Amino acid sequence: MDDPQNTPDSIRAAYQQQGVAGFYAAEGDSYRNPHEPAIRRLLRQITADWSLDLGRVLDLACGSGEATLALRELGAGKIDGIDPYTFRAYAARTGQQAEALTFEQIAAGALDGRAYSLIVCSFALHLVEVSRLPLLCYQLAQLSPALLVITPHKRPELRSEWGWQLREETVSERVRARLYEHGAVAEADPWR
Ligand SMILES: C[S@@+](CC[C@H](N)C(=O)[O-])C[C@H]1O[C@@H](n2cnc3c(N)ncnc32)[C@H](O)[C@@H]1O
Repeated sequence: MDDPQNTPDSIRAAYQQQGVAGFYAAEGDSYRNPHEPAIRRLLRQITADWSLDLGRVLDLACGSGEATLALRELGAGKIDGIDPYTFRAYAARTGQQAEALTFEQIAAGALDGRAYSLIVCSFALHLVEVSRLPLLCYQLAQLSPALLVITPHKRPELRSEWGWQLREETVSERVRARLYEHGAVAEADPWR
């Protein structure tokens, strides 16, 4: 939090100068989330309160393992990390390889055929262009019955037409957690 290179304002300015992809391509190896302790405490709280199934987890846009490390401490089973820019930082901290896939590739079906008990996306879904969210959400709904979004923002708010219904929400230390479960996936139209 106190690192001047890592404040919300400095990150926002870097996104504007370099673009999100350019920023993470340049800085991904040294990425750390200053909110990691708050994410860890929040995950501990909601895992108990919301009875999350941690049997087989996808940590989407996994950074340097902020959610993975916390979920391991909470007894999670197998966790897959995915991140196109921070996979080296993830490997260094977790000892696990992350797949270097983008949201765009996942929206195009790169994970077809997988099955997870839970998808966690921490501090990252707000980086997806709004126009790309419906298809990404639709694809994620094919992979898992539950999606946990952790975010310092109010956005993004996922819509039931994209396959996800908001079931639970809480905010702690200015970090928000939203648990989505399936809406009417079979009838979902990702283009609506
Ligand atoms: C603010 S960091 C969050 C990382 C970690 N989940 C956390 O809680 O700290 C955003 C993450 O999104 C990833 N990212 C950026 N653009 C992406 C894209 N197009 N597809 C997938 N991941 C992307 C970055 O590499 C980075 O790890």
